[in-house]
Amino acid sequence: MSVLLIERIKKLKAEKNALIMAHNYQIPEIQDIADIVGDSYMLAKYAQTTDKDCIIFCGVHFMAESAKILNPSKRVILANPDAGCPMADMVQPKDLKAFKEKYPGVPVVAYVNTSAEVKALSDLCCTSSNAVSLVKGLKEEKVIFVPDRNLGTFVAEQVPEKEIILWEGFCITHERVEAEDVKKAVEAHPGAKVLMHPECNPTVWGFADFMGSTAQIIDYVSNSEDQEFIIGTEAGILHSLKKVAPEKTCHLLSDCLVCQNMKKTTLEDVEKALSGGVAEILMDEGLRLRAEGALLRMLKPND
Ligand code: 13P
Ligand code: SF4
Repeated sequence: MSVLLIERIKKLKAEKNALIMAHNYQIPEIQDIADIVGDSYMLAKYAQTTDKDCIIFCGVHFMAESAKILNPSKRVILANPDAGCPMADMVQPKDLKAFKEKYPGVPVVAYVNTSAEVKALSDLCCTSSNAVSLVKGLKEEKVIFVPDRNLGTFVAEQVPEKEIILWEGFCITHERVEAEDVKKAVEAHPGAKVLMHPECNPTVWGFADFMGSTAQIIDYVSNSEDQEFIIGTEAGILHSLKKVAPEKTCHLLSDCLVCQNMKKTTLEDVEKALSGGVAEILMDEGLRLRAEGALLRMLKPND
């Protein structure tokens, strides 16, 4: 059944001149049929430059929305339109507007895990792979960082010369990891290097040998001379790791590291999206243009 479905997806993809993009947290079957699998930054970059007519996005809503903002002439379809990001919902435009009024002249750096409306109110976007360097490069000394207080705290630690004003958002998946979980994992796999995503709570960072985005964690494992790793990010990454570094042993830090939204997309959804059964992302052009500025500054920080 799955073989037939995969064949149909391939045929439809060619007919529609479509590109299938998947985040590292997607289920293995989706990663395997995708043309591009990557972290939020890499996916945004590819979406901006693809010459395909249509992008089928296997991830969560803000990612497909960013693809549409960056490449508006393409049809962009989120394969499962119910896949959202609870962290992105933790900053609402009206609340950010009110917050900005308290800090006139202070730039807003928005994690890409935000809606188009929030991006439109922000000066610069970032992902977990470039948040530190982008904030460091800002000329202002004070910065508002939304919505992830954990990534914002990570930036504040790495860029101590700036004052980072935090928002109280967090990833409900990474936030579940507790010190006890890390201790248990380290006890079960002594000697394994601990790699962690900065969306984890700062109370567990002290156990990490390395902290970075999903792509940075994958690079670390591929380039390291070590053989065994404890992975402190969402479970889907294990499949990406197996593909790029099959000779290494990677253990998920805790079974709690499963994002229900990232697990919503199925092969059936992809087929439906390619067959015209899922509405494409549409956006008011005024909003798109306002949101585009912050994303473009992230992709070309020196312009
Ligand atoms: P990255 O792939 O950029 O590390 O993204 C993490 C994440 O939680 C996306 O929702
Ligand atoms: Fe959002 Fe966290 Fe899921 Fe990423 S892993 S989509 S940040 S809830």
